[in-house]
Amino acid sequence: SAAEKGGYDYFMLKEIAEQPKAVADTLLGRIDAGGSLTLDEVRIGAAELREVDKVVIVACGTAFHAGLIAKYAIEHWTRIPCEVELASEFRYRDPILGSRSLVIAISQSGETMDTLMALRHAREQGSKVLAICNTNGSTIPRESDAVLYTHAGPEVAVASTKAFLTQLVACYLVALYLGQVQGTKWGDEISAVIRDLSRISAEVERVLETMEPVRELARSLADKDTVLFLGRHVGYPVALEGALKLKELAYMHAEGFAAGELKHGPIALIEEDLPVVVVVPSPRGRSVLHDKIVSNIQEIRARGARTIVIAEEGDEAVVPYADHLIRIPATPTLLQPLVATVPLQVFACELATARGNEVDQPRNLAKSVTVE
Ligand code: AGP
Repeated sequence: SAAEKGGYDYFMLKEIAEQPKAVADTLLGRIDAGGSLTLDEVRIGAAELREVDKVVIVACGTAFHAGLIAKYAIEHWTRIPCEVELASEFRYRDPILGSRSLVIAISQSGETMDTLMALRHAREQGSKVLAICNTNGSTIPRESDAVLYTHAGPEVAVASTKAFLTQLVACYLVALYLGQVQGTKWGDEISAVIRDLSRISAEVERVLETMEPVRELARSLADKDTVLFLGRHVGYPVALEGALKLKELAYMHAEGFAAGELKHGPIALIEEDLPVVVVVPSPRGRSVLHDKIVSNIQEIRARGARTIVIAEEGDEAVVPYADHLIRIPATPTLLQPLVATVPLQVFACELATARGNEVDQPRNLAKSVTVE
């Protein structure tokens, strides 16, 4: 009913708007007065966490994209090697797991059969499993050794939005906590990032306030067949997520690429007026990646692409090559997906609407996939 949708036309719009609160709620009570993390609720003891020598993340769809981003954070802050794998592929290749491996299963619903089978396999190999889940008492947390709940509240729209942002927050918390427990050299950085995380919900809110031009742009592209998405570093999984949202909602051909791979193939796809969304890393600290992606934008534009550039406020280098410029607030690099994903959600939702599609219930899809 309209009341359930809180005055919005679709649950998806309501859930996009709820993201600042969902992010804040997921941090609530997990940072103490001294600015350290308190994750006592995670029932895997500090002694055991200190022994962890490998992290393996398993998930599907959007949750898998959260896992891809988590890898950058976990390896950076903990120096523990981290693998991310589609849950549906995991157990079939006899993965190498041991008692010092920590397996993280990410799932909004907690009922995804592929993810459940992957975690069962991991536990059979003697690994500890930590679930990151949005649904209290669902099967995945019940069958795991420990759980860190995301506090997104119920997500009704089939396309995952607020659950994704809170999965990212939970992954950052786990990464920082592991770093804190294992005592890595990034002590100061960890405290700074915890401070940044506690401010990020306000930044997500600011992004939401500037989405009208994104909606307008989406409407103008309603008759296109293909949209490509490019990103690097944590912007690469963001590009994959942007493409997935467009597939499931707009039923358009959409693909995400690592921008560095362009010249290894995908650049052959570029033709006159093809919309290409590019997620640009922060230019601060004279980032090499930033300069490389600016050249990528130049290259594709020279071949006729219509460039839709998502870049940090104050990044002037992209201006000459952006046919459309979407600004996001400056954040530490690893946290950028929390703000960069939001315009892509709005973009896909508006395109779906413009194409007359059912936003909350896309064809052929179910909210939780309880068969393998
Ligand atoms: C997201 O928009 C999708 N509907 C889908 O990829 C989803 O993320 C995936 O099926 C995993 O679901 P889960 O988080 O409930 O395990």
